Amino acid sequence: MYSKEQTKKLQNETTALLKKKELAPKDIDSIREVLRFHEHRYYILNDPLISDFEYDQLYKALEKIETENPALITLDSPTQRVAKGLTKDFPTVPHLVPMLSLSNSYNTDDLLDFDRKARELTKENKIEYCVEPKFDGASISLIYENDLLVRGATRGDGVEGDDITTNIKQIKSIPLSAKFSDYGLELVEIRGEVLINKNNFKKYNEQMMEQGLPPLANPRNASAGTLRIKDPKEVAKRSLEAFVYNISYHTTLRGKNVAKELDTHSGSLEILWELGFRSPQKDKRVFKGIEAVIKYCEEFEVMRDDLAYEIDGMVIKVNEVALQDKLGMTSHHPRWAIACKFKARQATSKLLGVEFQVGRTGAVTPVAKLEPVAIGGVTVSSISIHNEDYIKEKDLRIGDSVLIERAGDVIPQIVKSLPEVRTGREKKILFPNHCPVCESKLFREEGEAVWRCVNIECPAQVVERIIHFTSKDAMDIRGFGDANVRKFYALGILKDIPGIYELNYKKIGELEGFGERSITNLQTAISNSKKQPLHRLIYALGIRFVGETTAKTLAHSVNHLLDFQNYSLEDLQNLEDIGPKVGGSIYHFFRNRDNIKMIRQLETLGLKLKNEKKEHAKGGNLTGQSFLFTGTLPTLKRSDAEEMVEKNGGTLLSGVSSKLNYLVVGEDAGSKLEKAKKINSVKIISEAEFLKMLN
Ligand code: IVH
Repeated sequence: MYSKEQTKKLQNETTALLKKKELAPKDIDSIREVLRFHEHRYYILNDPLISDFEYDQLYKALEKIETENPALITLDSPTQRVAKGLTKDFPTVPHLVPMLSLSNSYNTDDLLDFDRKARELTKENKIEYCVEPKFDGASISLIYENDLLVRGATRGDGVEGDDITTNIKQIKSIPLSAKFSDYGLELVEIRGEVLINKNNFKKYNEQMMEQGLPPLANPRNASAGTLRIKDPKEVAKRSLEAFVYNISYHTTLRGKNVAKELDTHSGSLEILWELGFRSPQKDKRVFKGIEAVIKYCEEFEVMRDDLAYEIDGMVIKVNEVALQDKLGMTSHHPRWAIACKFKARQATSKLLGVEFQVGRTGAVTPVAKLEPVAIGGVTVSSISIHNEDYIKEKDLRIGDSVLIERAGDVIPQIVKSLPEVRTGREKKILFPNHCPVCESKLFREEGEAVWRCVNIECPAQVVERIIHFTSKDAMDIRGFGDANVRKFYALGILKDIPGIYELNYKKIGELEGFGERSITNLQTAISNSKKQPLHRLIYALGIRFVGETTAKTLAHSVNHLLDFQNYSLEDLQNLEDIGPKVGGSIYHFFRNRDNIKMIRQLETLGLKLKNEKKEHAKGGNLTGQSFLFTGTLPTLKRSDAEEMVEKNGGTLLSGVSSKLNYLVVGEDAGSKLEKAKKINSVKIISEAEFLKMLN
């Protein structure tokens, strides 16, 4: 899309624009060109050339010029993705050409068969095929008229779909305009797939679970659901991506010839790539004959899990459009294309019963026990079914046949029950009123989906808290393991968290399976854990809503863990990313006498409650300087960046004030940046500048 020379030119132009004190209306075309170039580097090539902060500076300059000169706004300006207000409804619109589905193949014979039929019908000896990934998302159609994106729609029933143009514009890998006119095209309809990459999907599900909401079974449902959200801002937050794979319809510009490349499918994918779309440019291959096609599909399946997004197979397409036309289509699918499906990650099983497990916060989670079933090389026999509402929504019953999915490395989920095959003997799942372990009455808070056992002494909770304390991301006491914790607790050898450091090894030695060596190993692991840094201890305490990141934030802000006894709710909320909910939970934790007693006991037992880095890191490059981070940094994790500050002798502040020396700004920086701009002494720097200071 951009040649080496163009890249160089645009990069120089970027530097020149960034250097200018003030940008003026006469710069508007240049700013837009440069922004589009950097969006392409970021969203299509995954290879940005400038920091998010620099991009934002230019974007904001463009916004300012447009606000002051509304007449200069164009429909495809990079600012025009942003939508105001909520979408009322999604009107139904007809597709220019029906959106057909593909016939599927599951083995080599199916593919040989497909090729044989295609050769017979076309009377060709050997057919040229284009092979590309089959993206597992939600299909969309895009219409460009005179180079401008005018409509985006869902597949719907294949004939008509929903007009979701505003939401489509939130997807940064879909260009708002593209020079189809350079190829002689006037009206163009494109097919593609909207996806959410595995990383973003994981993050999304983590957020859902943190809020007590059930996660989604797979990235496909997440993308399809997101496309129909009525708040475009929320859509933008979900970071959807789009791949395009077909030009389904076009008209020709008067007096122009249509580009030759459109004679083949691979050629049209190349045009789309050149125009700035994300087409499967890198992964597509053209082969003469079906044998090489089959081999490529097999090779690709092995790499499936290494891709950033889900694919569920490959699509094989007759490459020459003239041959495609000869083959035509049935009422369901084209005869010139076939999907080669990978091993299924879905399977059906039977729901045999439900167990109710009590977690360390007292949440009671129903777990479905299933007839063991293999999915993608893993045997699944139990699956969390999250909460009462989830069971109702999916209408799950004991005895039901259920569809299960294990998407990539995502925890398996029940997609749905299959009421069609019910016998009438299925039983309702009854949620208990009392804790299955300690029999206390269960409570469900308003607005929450989970039932909770509120008896803090409930044996199940105590055990789970100890297990969490010893776990890998917490104190990392190797060799302890869930089973040992449960065993020691049941035998009265271990009663609570401090008890880990006062184990009676003589008694343990009398247990079956505990030789001298395993006891020494356990002793060493427990003793080593006393040296774990403060943030691990904070995480290990299992304060509700305090994950590893919040634990690091907390550890960085105090000299001693018990300093939190003197923190007000407001002090806590002034810390990075701590809102009322998390802040409230921390506040109450440090106001509970039993918790304070436990922490004191741990200190007496030799655990580190002091923030040592804060005490020792004097004399580094950043000595005497204070820092605060805001927004998403382009390469560094926030917690790592903060650790760098402390290691180099700098201090971290929790809010913007005249005491702050440097505000390091990433993407989506909000009020902190605005506040810092008003204080002259605060220097606003990018991640790159911060890294330079370290050297
Ligand atoms: S070609 C007439 N190519 O798979 C051509 N489809 O199961 C039809 N899909 O509805 C589509 N990746 O949503 C094509 N590279 C790809 C694809 C692809 C994913 C989806 C598409 C289609 C479904 C059929």
